Amino acid sequence: MKKVNVYYDKLYYGFPIVLVSYYDTDGTPNITTISSTYSLRDMMAIGFSTKGYALNRIKEVSDFVVNIVDSSQVEAVNFCGKNTGAECKKFDSLSLTPVPSKVVSAPIIEECPISIECRMTDVIESENHMGITNILAKIKGRLVSEAYLNGSGRLNVSAFDDLLYVGDGDSKGYRKMK
Ligand SMILES: Cc1cc2nc3c(=O)[nH]c(=O)nc-3n(C[C@H](O)[C@H](O)[C@H](O)COP(=O)(O)O)c2cc1C
Repeated sequence: MKKVNVYYDKLYYGFPIVLVSYYDTDGTPNITTISSTYSLRDMMAIGFSTKGYALNRIKEVSDFVVNIVDSSQVEAVNFCGKNTGAECKKFDSLSLTPVPSKVVSAPIIEECPISIECRMTDVIESENHMGITNILAKIKGRLVSEAYLNGSGRLNVSAFDDLLYVGDGDSKGYRKMK
């Protein structure tokens, strides 16, 4: 395979897009769009831009939910990724329903097929990576749409309809898994 060197600021090679939901300090639900996540066993890791509003609220309230979107939710992804919670309550502008989690103090987004309930454990900020804050969290619960499960209650891998973010900072877009 012939490869060429590229010198982009970033190379996002297909990250599943999620909506992170949390309660604002006044108790109202809010959301932000994130593509930099991974999960290992009962740990969730999220990479935030340090100046983001959601990050700074989550640092105060600790609890949040990672809601994996499906390919029908591009409008919400774009809206929550373009607007800041510092200026609006994003649920007010979207057809998304916040439902209180039973295990963490954060709202689940009813319309997302997977919701992972999290409690922050670590905030990682390093002078080696200025402007980026990594949040680690303990997973307290997982909810999966029945449409993503097989008859044995395990994941039906071929049903997954994630939206993947691919980009180099200049050229960017979404890919569907289906
Ligand atoms: C597809 C997509 C993926 C994004 N991924 C991230 C991310 O991983 N981390 C991040 O800090 N911001 C990410 N953003 C940008 C934030 O969603 C955006 O800056 C948002 O307005 C921040 O809102 P807030 O200030 O309410 O937190 C992404 C935006 C889009 C559209």
